[in-house]
Amino acid sequence: MAMMPSNSIAVIAAAPEKIRSKDTHYPYKQNTSLSYLCGFPEPESALVIIPGREQGEFVMFCRDKNLLRETWDGYREGPEGAVNRYAADDAFPIDDIDDILPGMLEGKDRVYYAIGKDADFDKHLMDWVNNVRSLRGGDAMPPSEFVDLDHLVNEMRLIKTAGEIKLMRRAGEIAAQAHCRAMKLSKPGLYEYQLQAEIEHEFMISGASAPAYTSIVGGGKNGCILHYIENRDKLKSGDLVLIDAGCEYENYASDITRTFPVNGKFTKPQAAIYDIVLAAQAAAIEQIAPGLEYHLANDATIQVITQGLVDLEILQGDVDALIVQGAYRDFYMHSVGHWLGMDVHDVGDYKIDNKWRVYEPGMVLTVEPGIYISPDNQNVAPKWRGIAVRIEDDILVTKTGCEDLTSGVPKVRDQIEQLMAG
Ligand code: GLY
Ligand code: MN
Ligand code: MN
Repeated sequence: MAMMPSNSIAVIAAAPEKIRSKDTHYPYKQNTSLSYLCGFPEPESALVIIPGREQGEFVMFCRDKNLLRETWDGYREGPEGAVNRYAADDAFPIDDIDDILPGMLEGKDRVYYAIGKDADFDKHLMDWVNNVRSLRGGDAMPPSEFVDLDHLVNEMRLIKTAGEIKLMRRAGEIAAQAHCRAMKLSKPGLYEYQLQAEIEHEFMISGASAPAYTSIVGGGKNGCILHYIENRDKLKSGDLVLIDAGCEYENYASDITRTFPVNGKFTKPQAAIYDIVLAAQAAAIEQIAPGLEYHLANDATIQVITQGLVDLEILQGDVDALIVQGAYRDFYMHSVGHWLGMDVHDVGDYKIDNKWRVYEPGMVLTVEPGIYISPDNQNVAPKWRGIAVRIEDDILVTKTGCEDLTSGVPKVRDQIEQLMAG
């Protein structure tokens, strides 16, 4: 509200429910900006913010209570719950929004709204704006300016408060525990989906609501497929397994990748690749502190990975020239990471006015370099083919540097082997 000029209004629609098949739905996920601003968890609702409105500035529209529907589909807050439990100043049944919202839009200069994200709601909003014209015999003034709300909310979401950091720390701890569990239980002959089940067991038993994204469990060369989610193959002795899995805890995501040997012992070629990725991650984390530019961490991973591949004779040539050519892209085809928060690939700009932004305390990001050597790469010695390693942690920018929120799962080779042996 403090960022909105006077005589403006913001409208934030709940996410629609989505059908998975026939009459079953995907698990419901609230619009994260609405969750961020007021926490209201139900579909078919809308948050309206009207600074200066005498009867109340924080207004909710939501489903009425309905004992029959609640018996079938679950609890509904109703407008009373929106006021009593979510601290709305004022709340109305969503069925009345066509009658009420035009009056709230009338005479406002500016509407904040995330245009183009929800075609159905976009159309409703246009109808309400048009309805303003027919209010009071055609004298009423519809708003003249529409501004993207996300621009304001995303910048708020990028800097986490102490309360948010507490939740993200817990999301990180749970996911770290889950990866430890997978390491301890891994053995040749298990199927990838069985390690997925162990990971997700730990998420749910610890109070997380769901995986934050579809868990990736790729044994051997499956690790070379960046978004491998089939998770159907058998894990083989002598292979690595790459697990990229994080949980959602109280609406906040964690995002961890660990790569470890299925049988508990790294081979020499696996160890060589692993140590380059680990060194690349360490070099990147050194570049994360208030005032440093976002791209430095990415540059550090490219430097260490290119040098490492040259040292192993997987790449040939001068390191600086190879970096300019982008030779590493055959092996490291994504960038160092992304913002993390209520969404796993969280909101927030990476550049401002075309310049890399600098870190500020309260930002959270992943650092996740990797090396993926295609099983079909004829340019490298056969011993390297099919090796895939990614190491990913969640890093909080602090006042003086940064803090690893996912340090609860080992990533140094000896420590992984010890955990797996124990
Ligand atoms: N699993 C998604 C990511 O690491 O970005
Ligand atoms: Mn990940
Ligand atoms: Mn990630």
